Amino acid sequence: MTRPPHIYDAIILGAGGAGLMCAAVAGQRGRRVLLIDHADQPGKKILISGGGRCNFTNLHTTPSCYLSANPHFAKSALGRYQPQEFIALVNRHGIAWHEKTLGQLFCDGSAKQIVAMLLDECAKGDVTLRLSQTIRDVRHADGHFHIKTDEQIAAAPALVIATGGPSIPKMGATGFAYDLARQFGLKIVQPKPALVPLTLPAEEKLFSTLSGVSADVVARCGKTAFREACLFTHKGLSGPAILQISSYWTHGQPIAINFLPESPADWLVTFKRQKPRVSLRTALSSVFPDRLAAVLADRLALPGELANCTDRALRGVEQQLAAWPFQPNGTEGFAKAEVTAGGISTAALSSRTMEAKVVPGLYAIGEAVDVTGWLGGYNFQWAWASGYAAGEVL
Ligand code: FDA
Repeated sequence: MTRPPHIYDAIILGAGGAGLMCAAVAGQRGRRVLLIDHADQPGKKILISGGGRCNFTNLHTTPSCYLSANPHFAKSALGRYQPQEFIALVNRHGIAWHEKTLGQLFCDGSAKQIVAMLLDECAKGDVTLRLSQTIRDVRHADGHFHIKTDEQIAAAPALVIATGGPSIPKMGATGFAYDLARQFGLKIVQPKPALVPLTLPAEEKLFSTLSGVSADVVARCGKTAFREACLFTHKGLSGPAILQISSYWTHGQPIAINFLPESPADWLVTFKRQKPRVSLRTALSSVFPDRLAAVLADRLALPGELANCTDRALRGVEQQLAAWPFQPNGTEGFAKAEVTAGGISTAALSSRTMEAKVVPGLYAIGEAVDVTGWLGGYNFQWAWASGYAAGEVL
């Protein structure tokens, strides 16, 4: 004999940032909400984010800081739940925070405070949270979504997909959202690792000797550029500038690094006038970490003293340093990607409510959706905003 299902107004799959926010908002509107996760703890990615301090939003959030096949999709939700709303929530919970750089807000204390805050908001809405649940089956019948786990069968007229993307599988991340979306006829924009280190081929081995060295650069891919730090690794390139550009990079594309974002034009020629007896390596050491200066000088292969180099040759060196080409041969993959770009196609979703246009009652929010933010708190802001948008209408 099959057991009768527990009936709720909404079932949310995934207790990450988006699912917790959505559950709290819907619960506080009086909806009976069931929030299910296969992990033994909610908000695991929140806990490890921002080096344990959670970069929970960015003051400069605008839709242009997001990648999506439809760049307009995120506007509505981001416009209706802005960083100020989340900051107000954080303040109401007495969580101290600070701006680190570039509008990035972090907890002074710990990311645990953000998870505790969201759980507290869920408790205010009487949300039923079920952890360590393996979802065995999802089906739609008689106007209800029926969810079967090892422990129970639950049903509700609304189902929210909030199970994120496959980045960092060892933390329990899965492509479950895509399987479920496909089951209901929604399309998937090819997922790919984003905010991820890039790898370099063996020919670029010289740079691998720089592992651990970082420099302030402008990284460019096509028309997109980011001014931040670049970190050399034994596999290739990382650091904020590279993570940002990785979201825009596709296989086969070169990237260009400007190692001289601050230096005035003719910097090296001026240097020669002032110190004609020094080598290029010594000149570069005045603006770069020593190991980087050595490798760049080696590659530039301009022997002897600056006095022996023509102004033209030195200007050529400056040009090379301002657009140093790298040809990455890949990324470090989902294992190291901070987020997944691509995901459930926004074409099938309402930008106001996140509801699937052809499957009334089915919603998708957070990283599961084809909306990917820059590095710096933008992805959590999307999780809060999309979770709020759905939570308001469930
Ligand atoms: P999220 O992945 O957080 O949650 C999905 C939930 O679904 C998880 O709890 C998971 O267990 C559950 N789930 C998955 N598959 C399931 C299944 N089959 N059955 C049941 N449950 C399932 N962003 C930012 O803005 N600021 C930052 O500081 C950082 N820092 C950061 C560091 C690191 C190391 C990573 C990996 C990522 C970040 N991010 C970030 C990105 C940010 O963590 C991410 O964008 C959000 O957590 C996405 O929230 P979601 O709720 O959509 O998915």
